[in-house]
Amino acid sequence: MATALKSEALTGARSMGHMALHYKKPEEGPLAARLLSMLGYIQTQDLPLPDGTHFYRFVVDQQHHPRGDGIVYLSCVPEAQRDLMNAIHGALNVGTDQEHPAVTAMRERMDHDPEYGFHYGTLFESLEDLENVFMALEEANRSDPEMKGRLKLVYNRALPGNPDVDARLDASPIYKDATRFAYGKNGVQAFLETDILSSGLLGETMILEFDYVFPGYANHVLSVVEWE
Ligand SMILES: [Fe+2]
Repeated sequence: MATALKSEALTGARSMGHMALHYKKPEEGPLAARLLSMLGYIQTQDLPLPDGTHFYRFVVDQQHHPRGDGIVYLSCVPEAQRDLMNAIHGALNVGTDQEHPAVTAMRERMDHDPEYGFHYGTLFESLEDLENVFMALEEANRSDPEMKGRLKLVYNRALPGNPDVDARLDASPIYKDATRFAYGKNGVQAFLETDILSSGLLGETMILEFDYVFPGYANHVLSVVEWE
């Protein structure tokens, strides 16, 4: 006889464990690993595989190094998945003037809101750290020989109304000119979209989100979602 799981049956804590990311081109493992390092992830393993690609283990913070959570694995898109993506692209005429209208419509929605599709968010405890990471990404997108033009960066300010938060963001090197807003107060978001990594229905890019929440507020963008 089936028995309903009671919440008191769980006696231990749980946490987010790991995320498995893929880079698109077999030769771009080191480039993808360098990008993750620029994002502040800490590389703990680089395993060369027989096919010549690399399998990497990163942790989001040093405290996770010996643990089973806070992990980001990074490997090349597997062959069968790459074949499937290529078949989908061919069947839907992706990137041609006969592109299926559903593809075009999805692109337009993603361009409007990076959170429309699959993405992964990392929380920073320091706004200065987040600003420094994204200023370095801006520079890499301008001048890095391997990353130039391959990093799309989008910034969402906190919903306005808190004078302290608004003043801090007006003084921020990345948020002072931002015109987009998060779905909530007292926190900010920054997004990186890159074609070095693969995800989503077409496997074309991956979107990584980075967040910061101003301390001392129970009501913030990651605790209460607001729709305006
Ligand atoms: Fe998100």
